[in-house]
Amino acid sequence: MSDALKVALLGCGTVGSAVLRLLSEQSDDLAARIGRRVEVAGVAVRRPDRHPEVPADLLTTDAHALVTRPDVDLVVEVIGGIEPARSLLLAAIGAGKSVVSANKALLADDGVALHAAASAAGVDLYYEAAVAGAIPLLRPLRESLAGDQLRRVVGIVNGTTNYILSRMAETGAGFGEALAEATEAGYAEADPTADVDGFDAAAKAAILASLAFHSPVTAADVYREGISAVSATDVARAAEIGCTVKLLAICERVAGADGADDGVAVRVHPAMIPTTHPLAAVGGAFNAVFVEAEAAGELMFYGRGAGGQPTASAVLGDLVAVARNRLAGAAGPGTTGYAGLTVRSMADTPTRYHISLDVADKPGVLATVAHEFAAQGVSIATVRQDGHGEAATLVIVTHRAPDAALAATVTRLREMSAVRGVTSVLRVEGLS
Ligand code: HSE
Repeated sequence: MSDALKVALLGCGTVGSAVLRLLSEQSDDLAARIGRRVEVAGVAVRRPDRHPEVPADLLTTDAHALVTRPDVDLVVEVIGGIEPARSLLLAAIGAGKSVVSANKALLADDGVALHAAASAAGVDLYYEAAVAGAIPLLRPLRESLAGDQLRRVVGIVNGTTNYILSRMAETGAGFGEALAEATEAGYAEADPTADVDGFDAAAKAAILASLAFHSPVTAADVYREGISAVSATDVARAAEIGCTVKLLAICERVAGADGADDGVAVRVHPAMIPTTHPLAAVGGAFNAVFVEAEAAGELMFYGRGAGGQPTASAVLGDLVAVARNRLAGAAGPGTTGYAGLTVRSMADTPTRYHISLDVADKPGVLATVAHEFAAQGVSIATVRQDGHGEAATLVIVTHRAPDAALAATVTRLREMSAVRGVTSVLRVEGLS
């Protein structure tokens, strides 16, 4: 074999060190699969003294010099965050290096500019590890399904929140108790904000929507609600109607008033889904993504969404792909925003709600409540009443209506004297 391909590694945390280990352990197999050996040219870190496992002559604090070094062919970025990752990747691309990144925040924030730079330079920009860790998902969307029309992509793409919601369902615990357990078990970060408030899932949703619908979608376009307001009552109410609560990233084509497709809706929020839905069986810290396509029908991708080894597997898969492309003198498929679909506001996005109300059990109350739904143009699908003495609980599931109409209905219900309390409000997905 001729000269080895040289890889610059940016970052050597949990994922970076797993990448280094796999590169070393599998070097012969990788060489056979690529057709050329792969060697690590350098590892850029902030604190070299914290990486005794890396040969000292590979460590550097000068990441910019490393990614622009003439002998470097490929750059792997696993430092995360926007800067300095963005500047380093643009410098690498500008210097003609192909890039593999696991950086969801950067791709969701500035994917258009990075893709444009890679396209102009004729190099690859691959980032399978940025969404759902080890699960092959972006390449299937970008390549395997490139001949199909995607309708919806619905995912459980955050393991921390899925672990918390799974424990709430299993034990009846409230959010705070389940979060404490997740922290104790090492599933939640000391600062769980990015996971619990849905920022992590929103970045992944933006990347998924951009690829699925050939339209630029950024994290700022994604409607986002986290799980901190999900209560034990919400989870119990879900179980009563044969549902479970999941934090979903939902990317879908939506129809305009004339029935023609005219945009996409991209949102992250907790929702009830039927226990018969394939996503309902995804427990603990696992991830899964359910895809609905015109010709292919329904597909489900499932596996580990985080962790050093699983994420490193996705990084190495990309590394093999970009190395092969480089040897072939070509760049692989990029992304395309040719469809240019606009992102619908959440207010205009059709959703369904499940609402539980404590009401006075008196003649006319149900009619008054139903009137508020009608006044907002919201159609009721089912109503169940559980009576207890002079009080009753009404459990209402709506048909699809613009989210703003449903939210306005809930606001009005909270103001009604006949309603003693709105005890649970959650969106519902996947009900026929
Ligand atoms: N923090 C993420 C999760 C993994 O809990 O799934 C990295 O995206």
